[in-house]
Amino acid sequence: MHAVGIVAAAGSGLRLGADLPKALVPLAGRPLVAWSVDALLAGGVAEVVVAVPAEQRAAFETALPGVRLVDGGATRTASVRAALSAAHDLGDAVLVHDAARPLTPPEVVARVLAALDGGARAVVPVLPVVDTTVAVDADGVITGALPREQLRRVQTPQGFDRATLVEAYGRLPAGAELTDDAAVVHSIGVPVRTVAGDERAAKITVAHDLALAEKQVRG
Ligand code: C5P
Repeated sequence: MHAVGIVAAAGSGLRLGADLPKALVPLAGRPLVAWSVDALLAGGVAEVVVAVPAEQRAAFETALPGVRLVDGGATRTASVRAALSAAHDLGDAVLVHDAARPLTPPEVVARVLAALDGGARAVVPVLPVVDTTVAVDADGVITGALPREQLRRVQTPQGFDRATLVEAYGRLPAGAELTDDAAVVHSIGVPVRTVAGDERAAKITVAHDLALAEKQVRG
């Protein structure tokens, strides 16, 4: 199986409070996006396309020499859509990964690839929910508890049969905004399988996440 990786790296990273796009923020001296690209390659992905903020393209070319870049969009959905059309000639499988998950172990990537090899059309790494999880109303008052044994936290990379992902994005209304790609294929009725994720693949969103990742790298 020839798998191509798409890395969504076109976010601004406002919540991280950096004056750089989040994907260029350094972790142990290397941009987050470089770690994320390496994680995909180490796990068995053959090549990678990265969606970047159009106005920062030169900085990404410096951070990722030799890697194929495409201009991302205003939302994650638009960024993945742009990368997917750039990657249309590559691979029979596509793994979509967040640049913001730099320390994803290669084993997670390999588990996703193995599930695709085994015939899954869509597969995501997940973790259990360990906290009691509730729904609230507009005033923040609890309206009910959710059965946590049925809930999972979804990570990336998310793997897809390429034709399935292309069809799902093709049928997604223009301007629709979903927070991940499993939701896109689920919207056309494709079953999405799960494999074990890993806490080390946590998404870096706020400064505390970056501090934890620094500790993880330095051991
Ligand atoms: O904002 P959030 O952390 O959920 O973004 C997840 C991933 O999607 C990040 O790696 C970010 O760079 C990417 N993204 C993108 N294009 C956007 C917004 C987010 O590629 N317009």
